[in-house]
Formats: sequence, structure tokens, C-alpha cells
Amino acid sequence: MLNWDDPIGQTRQRQAAPAPTGMLASEMLAAVERAERVAPPVPAPLPAAADAASAAVGVTGLEQVEFGARRLVVDDKAMINCRADVNQLVPFKYKWAWQKYLNACANHWMPQEINMNADIALWKSRDGLTDDERLIIKRNLGFFSTADSLVANNLVLAVYRHITNPECRQYLLRQAFEEALHTHAYQYCVESLGLDEAEIFNMYREIPAVHDKAAWAMRFTESLGDPGFHTGTAATDQRLLRDLIAFYVIFEGIFFYVGFVQVLSMGRRNKMTGVAEQFQYILRDESMHMNFGIDVINQIKVENPHLWTEAFQREIIALIHEAIELEIRYAQDTMPRGILGLNANMFEEYLHYIANRRCAQIGLPEQYPGATNPFPWMSEVIDLKKEKNFFETRVTEYQTGGALSWD
Ligand SMILES: [Fe+2]
Ligand SMILES: [Fe+2]
Repeated sequence: MLNWDDPIGQTRQRQAAPAPTGMLASEMLAAVERAERVAPPVPAPLPAAADAASAAVGVTGLEQVEFGARRLVVDDKAMINCRADVNQLVPFKYKWAWQKYLNACANHWMPQEINMNADIALWKSRDGLTDDERLIIKRNLGFFSTADSLVANNLVLAVYRHITNPECRQYLLRQAFEEALHTHAYQYCVESLGLDEAEIFNMYREIPAVHDKAAWAMRFTESLGDPGFHTGTAATDQRLLRDLIAFYVIFEGIFFYVGFVQVLSMGRRNKMTGVAEQFQYILRDESMHMNFGIDVINQIKVENPHLWTEAFQREIIALIHEAIELEIRYAQDTMPRGILGLNANMFEEYLHYIANRRCAQIGLPEQYPGATNPFPWMSEVIDLKKEKNFFETRVTEYQTGGALSWD
């Protein structure tokens, strides 16, 4: 039955000839359908981006489906505050985002595919590992096991709603699944080694160096996750941009790297090779997440140059300095003595090098001039294709599967 709350009915009524008084609903619908066969509906104009006042509505994709709206064109699309239909994946505006989605799917892996037998034997042996080596494994499983849940929750409950582009949302969905796989991988390590799961998963509430990084990140998810928060003004758009930088550039791009170096160093010395292999796949995924985030951040800057003010840049630089100090403390806490040819000073140098890289990637000046990379082997690990070992397993098949042609 037609009523004033029925948008399809309303649209059809607007398009039909005026209905004679007393016309039945069924007769009116038939008249509408006859009219549509003669002349297709004239769609309403579609604004490309919302103004501040209307940004609060029409960006989720869950709004009512407007009947008769005109077809989407690529110029309707924008990264934030876009009113174009986010349920229509194509035409692509950001082909890089779609390519990253395809690349991520081609790199699919599962934690159970990695053999943990050598790790179990080594962990259970009385003198196979030193206390310092055990501390590195436990602290990093403690940090990462909840950090990846935090990233996933931020993506799904906070970031996703504010990115108004379907090809980027497609990648975000893939990323969210990968974060679930990472949490799964840490759980799988904890279970395989027979660790106390409460000790590991509650570590971010018990160990200061682990807690402080997680607590730092929480400041940058609370606004976006608030149902009352909407982008559309310079202040709220800056808030979104700042929170994206906090998660993609700092949390995933700085806070993960001491742990990656420590665990992968053990793997390079043939210790805890299963855990190290899990971390290696995770590092590859994380490197893609960060690069995607950086592309999104830079695209928002291009589309909204007024957001990138001097004051805003100073705020971001201050956050990066703060984060580097937290990560240096994490390195000291997880590795109080030199081990595996590593020491805390090398991590300080490495973090300065990483910070310079991250600044350059989002167009900020270098903060630690002259910092060099004491772990050049890390870049080879990120690009797993150079490591022969890692594509001899199931992942090779996924890669091949992703490249199948139908000729
Ligand atoms: Fe992750
Ligand atoms: Fe990630």
C-alpha cells in the first residue's frame, strides 16, 4: 500500500501523470508503469561531496535506496564526505585500492599451515632457550595478541564508517579479515607452546611497556567510534586524518617494528622458526596495510588541502616523537640485556630511521637526520618473494590460484 513513508511509491507518484481523483492504488501503479515504458525516469542530481550540514547523513550505504537516481560516474566518488552511492563498487576511482585488495587476496595464508613442531620441542627443552629469549617471545605475543584486535575493532567500528569509497571499503574488509588471522596466529602460537593464555592476553593490562602503547592508541579510536561523531567540517575531518595517521602510520607502522625485528632475529638464528614464520607472514600483511593507509591519507590530503595546516603538521610530528619514545621503552623492556647481536641502542637508531621513512611517506620533514638502518635484512623479509623458503608452502598455491587465466 502506498503511503507517505514509502520512498519508491513517492518517486513513482512524482513521475506519473496526476492521478484522477478516486483512482485506485493498483490503477495508479499501472499508470506509473505505462509512463515509465514511454519515458525513463529523470534522475535527481547527485551531489559529489556533502557540505558540512549534510555530511551527517547519506555516507554509510545503509540509507534507503532512492528509486530512479541517475547512474554513478567516477567523478561522483571521493574518499571522505561523499554522497555518491557507496554500495556501487564500480566504476573505480582509486584503482590502487582495488589492486591492493587483489594483491592481499593473492597472498592468502592460514596460521595452521605453519609447522610448529620444532618450536614446541625447543620451548619444552630445559636449556634450548635463555630466559631473555623466552621473555622476547612472551612479551611480543602479549603485545600483538591484543594489538591486532584493537586494530580490527578500530577498522570495523570506527574507520570504516567514515571512508566513503567502496573500493577502499573493499580493502578494509580484507584487512579486517587479515587482522582476525593475525589474532588467530598469536592464539595458535600460545596454544602450541602451552603458554598461560590469561598471562599473554591480559598482558596489555599488566605490563607497563605493553599497556602504554595500547593505551596511547585508544585516544585515536574513541571519536571515530562514537556514533555521534560525523566528518564534514575542517575540525572533524582533521580528527579523522589524525586518527588514520595514528593507526596506520604509527600503530601499524612504528609500534609493530621492534617486535618484528626481535622475533624474526630469533628465526634467523634457527630458534622458534614457526613463530618467526607466522610473524613473517604478518609483517608482509602489515606492510601492505600501512601502505594502503598512507595512500588513503595522501589522497585525503590531495582532495582536502586545507586540512594540512602548519599547526596540524606540528601536531602529527609531536605524536610521532611521542610514539618513538614509547617504542624505545618497549625495546628496553622486552630486551633488558643485549641478545642475538641486538641491543637497545640499535633499536633506537632503527626507530629513528623508521620515523624518518614514515614522515617522508606522508610529506613531513625528516625528524632524525642521518639515522641509518641497522637491520637491512628487514626489507628483504617484508618482500617475501625474495625469500625462497616461504613460497615453497601452501601460499605458493594461493599465489598461483590468484593468477589463473582462462584462455
Ligand atoms: Fe595485524
Ligand atoms: Fe594491520
